Amino acid sequence: MHRLDHPGLVFRSLDPSDGDETLLKGWYEATRRGFHQTRGNDDGFEAWRAHTRNDALTLLGAWSEPSELASATMPVSTFSSWTAPVNVGGGTSLPTRLISDVTVAPTHRRQGLLRKLMTVTLADAVAEGIPLAALTVSEGSIYGRFGFGTATHVRQVEVDVTSKFRFREDAITDDGSVVLAEPAEAWKTVAGIYGTFQDRTRGSVTRPHYYEPWLSSAYDFAGDSKDESKQRVGVHLDSGGTPDGYVVYRTADERNDSGLRMAKVVDLVALTPSAYLRLWRFLADIDLVERVGWAKAPVQDPLYWALAEPFAVKSAELDDFLWMRVLDPVKALQGRPWYADGEIALGIEDPLGHASGTWRVAVRDGRAEVIPTDTIPNVALAADTLGALYLGGVDVRTLAASGRITGSPEAIETWAAMADGGPLPYCITGF
Ligand SMILES: CC(C)(COP(=O)(O)OP(=O)(O)OC[C@H]1O[C@@H](n2cnc3c(N)ncnc32)[C@H](O)[C@@H]1OP(=O)(O)O)[C@@H](O)C(=O)NCCC(=O)NCCS
Repeated sequence: MHRLDHPGLVFRSLDPSDGDETLLKGWYEATRRGFHQTRGNDDGFEAWRAHTRNDALTLLGAWSEPSELASATMPVSTFSSWTAPVNVGGGTSLPTRLISDVTVAPTHRRQGLLRKLMTVTLADAVAEGIPLAALTVSEGSIYGRFGFGTATHVRQVEVDVTSKFRFREDAITDDGSVVLAEPAEAWKTVAGIYGTFQDRTRGSVTRPHYYEPWLSSAYDFAGDSKDESKQRVGVHLDSGGTPDGYVVYRTADERNDSGLRMAKVVDLVALTPSAYLRLWRFLADIDLVERVGWAKAPVQDPLYWALAEPFAVKSAELDDFLWMRVLDPVKALQGRPWYADGEIALGIEDPLGHASGTWRVAVRDGRAEVIPTDTIPNVALAADTLGALYLGGVDVRTLAASGRITGSPEAIETWAAMADGGPLPYCITGF
């Protein structure tokens, strides 16, 4: 790789289909080391390899010279990326560079390796005409400098499913049913329901291939073994027998901090409000379970409003989920929906330069026309703030009140009317 250099290191881009097996295994082990996992096994490696091939991953790494102590098949830094559609609202999905497996060994941290690998990856995406990049993160302070902003959120909930769990009389009733299924048999249905959810849900990401072995219980990535777990699936059928929701859950021998028996939702998708509440009724009906936990509940959760005792839902915290990065303001802003006619001159400051400049954003009938302009911007923001705003997960006025959007009050009001108004984005696919 000619554009990357670092003293004492060799950069390589591995071919997932046909790459050197030793280096691929080393790369895989390096990511496991970086995320404090145990050493891998052959089944896990094959499950990972299927993902790298199916999703056509770019696998970048930096290797040091081999020595007597270390054969150096494991790189000191890893970085993967691939392109997949993200639903940006209004029924449109745009190709997005998804970034993952970012690790740097303790021997090489803070020497600029992440910066180099990120810079080259985003520049390649721009050269390929990809308008957006996205990632899910483990630390919040790293990625803003590269133009990423927190674009979607989820809520961690723990629901009391003892006698406190009772719907209000006016809660939507369901005339469908739930079938308990084995994960492998249910997989096709689960994937189909997720596909519809993906098409309908602003902020949703097309799933990488490893969701198949994970949700079909072919491989347990957490336990690093063939899945012997207690993972089960409940599939919701509407009154005509058509599947329109599912929950994948585990009833491990887990207890919460108060010693109460827990079931954990791994993945829950409902295409209708009645399927959503019915799946919660199903979870509440699991015997020998007192609490159900879910780490990816929607920020505005109908369950809370449908229960006679809403305090049965304990919300632990609001978590950031998908971080977005606009690479091409024309394609990205023209691709998303808009909610009022208007026009502003938007100044974007991008530390990496990709979105920098002033852009005339003119909205008519829900669509924007975006062109570069020489006029002085009347609204200005940095690339990470644009990333946060892009899917509508936070509104313009809130960001202006935090100081992250500046401009004339009239122009900010116009921008708010144009940009705000759609459904909150929701993403339940980490990667
Ligand atoms: C996070 C990690 C990838 C950083 O790699 P690195 O090569 O040391 O980072 P760089 O030297 O390229 O630093 C790039 C910039 O990020 C900053 N930065 C790096 N890690 C940071 C952290 N944990 N918190 C805050 N800032 C951080 C650096 O200060 C630097 O800032 P500057 O360029 O504005 O001066 C590395 O520490 C790591 O592997 N951590 C464990 C795995 C992990 O958390 N991965 C992220 C998953 S989302």
